[in-house]
Amino acid sequence: MAKLASLLDKMIVFERFGGGEARLIPLKKETISQVDLQSITEVCSQELVGYWVTHQYASGPDGSYMLQDAEKFVKHADAGWTNATTFVYLIRNADNDIVGAVDVQSPDPVDAPIGYWADTTGEHRGYMTNAVCSLCELAREAGYASLIAYVRPQNKNSVGVLERAGFENKGTAVNPKTLEKMLLFAKNLHKEDR
Ligand SMILES: CC(C)(COP(=O)(O)OP(=O)(O)OC[C@H]1O[C@@H](n2cnc3c(N)ncnc32)[C@H](O)[C@@H]1OP(=O)(O)O)[C@@H](O)C(=O)NCCC(=O)NCCS
Repeated sequence: MAKLASLLDKMIVFERFGGGEARLIPLKKETISQVDLQSITEVCSQELVGYWVTHQYASGPDGSYMLQDAEKFVKHADAGWTNATTFVYLIRNADNDIVGAVDVQSPDPVDAPIGYWADTTGEHRGYMTNAVCSLCELAREAGYASLIAYVRPQNKNSVGVLERAGFENKGTAVNPKTLEKMLLFAKNLHKEDR
């Protein structure tokens, strides 16, 4: 497992759709600053990100996502790399702003779930499809056979990311984490080689 973590522990440069460079960077305590924590808090507080993902981690009295929640997220990511259980990357744009995050949530090389969130404000869109494509390539090189994603059918932006990144819609399935019926998408990472 330590070998898997070291294979995944890379910075990947990719192109934003529409132009501009971006990077996937393993999220560890040592790779972020106090300003970064504030950026994570801001993005995770956005309405869409909260609605689809981060509300479950928000500890504010009114359900708001707090700096301490971002600190917990970083702690979780850092432990994931140390224990080789989950592999979280930040997406940074050419100005080094944090514009999203993406992760592989299991060391199991078959059907490992991925997740992601991104800055949903107009000026910072266009990163996620190419970030997920880069993640697929990195995972393939590290020895993963297939990745999956559970998504709610109403989450059109997320469905769009998966379709553009070459995931196949496998229909409705129960997400074992939440026991919720969702759409299951899967990508065989070696299909092109056959
Ligand atoms: C889901 C989420 C990450 C998608 O972000 P996004 O910025 O829409 O994703 P992309 O960067 O891939 O796409 C942005 C735009 O660029 C276009 N685009 C991006 N890459 C592209 C590519 N390679 N080819 C063609 N079009 C592309 C898309 O079509 C989209 O434009 P549109 O909405 O007008 O169709 C974002 O909405 C989000 O964080 N939502 C909340 C959290 C969430 O739902 N997470 C997933 C839970 S399953």
